[in-house]
Formats: sequence, structure tokens, C-alpha cells
Amino acid sequence: MNLDWPTPDDQITGVYAKYAPIYDVLFEHSLSDAEYYLHAAERLRPGDEILELGVGTGRLTERYLERGFRVVGVDSSRDMLEQARRRLARHAGRFELVHADMREFDLGRRFASVVAPFGTVAHLLTDADRSRAFHNAYHHLADGGEFIFDDLPGWIAGRSDGTSLDLRCEQRDPETGRRVRLQTNLIDAADAPVSVRYDFIDWLEPDGGVARRVVVRVVFRNIALDDELALLAGAGFSRFDLYGDFAGTPLDRARPSENRRLVVHGHRGRG
Ligand SMILES: C[S@@+](CC[C@H](N)C(=O)[O-])C[C@H]1O[C@@H](n2cnc3c(N)ncnc32)[C@H](O)[C@@H]1O
Repeated sequence: MNLDWPTPDDQITGVYAKYAPIYDVLFEHSLSDAEYYLHAAERLRPGDEILELGVGTGRLTERYLERGFRVVGVDSSRDMLEQARRRLARHAGRFELVHADMREFDLGRRFASVVAPFGTVAHLLTDADRSRAFHNAYHHLADGGEFIFDDLPGWIAGRSDGTSLDLRCEQRDPETGRRVRLQTNLIDAADAPVSVRYDFIDWLEPDGGVARRVVVRVVFRNIALDDELALLAGAGFSRFDLYGDFAGTPLDRARPSENRRLVVHGHRGRG
């Protein structure tokens, strides 16, 4: 706790400036998390308003809108918001995109549900940063509502020696017709407060050669479960449901590396 690690704000907007043009090509097919969040939204009423922190390109937002919910999406990357604006245009009037930092914004109203999908909170590197974001999530949540997010701390994924490249996905870029490959290299020093990941985005030649490469350096928080829960409790959340994947398997606290994700539902009590 009380890590004094500066949050590299420019680094995050820089990361997503590089990712924005190719984000949907790479991640459109990551459906298990989207299905999980949509299933969790079934407890809401049609027309209810959802606040999405780190809305990105609107990958999940579009699906919420198609199911009749209204959405306000907050993101600190203008490049990602621009993609979202284009993608969601046909739902005009039922969503709002706000360029803001999730640690410091106030929309002046409360939402039926607050979500931060696809590892967004992992970008919050210090206790102070997480605490501010969690306070904001609580502040914007209606009584009886849930704040749902997923996280990928180092204690789940296991440690990496940083010497190997893992293939995360390979997709076809419809604009260029080229295959695009995402490989990652996670560098995780023992007991380090953060992990550093290098993402290699490669546009491939038909023969498999690399036509173009973009390298992105991403920094993640390596938070302990108890610290995460303490920060949530400090923000006001009174009860938690914890899962170890997007299939809803309860989190295995005894064998952390068995979990594929940390999925948290933080409840705001009534009254
Ligand atoms: C991994 S992407 C997830 C995007 C989207 N939720 C999805 O499911 O595809 C993380 C997003 O969080 C945004 N983000 C990171 N730190 C942020 C902050 N402090 N405030 C607001 N947005 C932030 C990034 O710009 C990026 O769009």
C-alpha cells in the first residue's frame, strides 16, 4: 500500500493514440467479457443508464445500446473517443461520450450501474489513483447498484521472465486486407508494484514477413487482492462478489494462478 509511483498520464494517452486505429480489428472478437457484462446488465431495467469508465472505442457500449440501455462513456483518450463516436453514430441521442479522467470528473448524477471493462483499472498505478477512481465510481452509482470491473494483476497471471513473446491474437485488417498480429512480452520483476508489457502490433505480408510494426509500452499495477478490496471499501462499497473468469467461476483465493481474471462486483448499499 501507499506506493509512491507517478502515474504516467502521457504514457496512457500515448498508448491509446497508437492503439485507437487498430483496437477494434484486434479486440472485436474478444467476446467472453462482453457477454459477461451484458449478462450482468440483465438485472437492470430497459432504459436504465450505465456509466462506462474507460469506454474506449465503444466495443461494449454498442452492445448495451442495442439492448435498450442508455450509456455515458468516460475516457481520457481523444483518439479512442473519436473511434467510439463513429461507431455509435446510429444510436445518437442515447449515449454521451465525455473526455475526462476517471480519477477526476463529476457528472452530477447517479447511474443504475457503473462498469470499467477489459482491464481498464489496471492502468491506475497508485493507491491514490485507484482510490480516486473508486470514489468516483461510488459517487456516481445509485443506491443498490453495482460497480463491475475486471482486472489482471500479476498474482493471477503468474510471473514472466520477460524473454518470450506470447501471441495474443491475429486478425485481418479490412482496411489494408493484411493480417494483423498482436504479440506481448510481459516483464514482471518479483514484488514490483507494476508490470511492464511491450505489445508488438505487426501487419503481415502474405508470406508472414512483417510489413509494419508498432511497439507499445504499457505499464500495469500489480495490486494484491486485499489492497484492491481495502481501496474499494474505503470508497464506500459495502459488499463484494469476486469471480476468477468471465464464466462466473468464483475466485479461487487459495490458488491465485488458477484464476484467469479478477472480476469484481462492488455493491453500494441502499439508503
Ligand atoms: C483496455 S481499454 C478498454 C476499452 C473498453 N472498455 C473495451 O472494453 O474495449 C482501456 C481504456 O481506458 C482508458 N483509460 C485509461 N486510463 C484512464 C483514465 N485515468 N481515465 C479515463 N480513461 C482511461 C483508455 O484510454 C482506454 O480507452
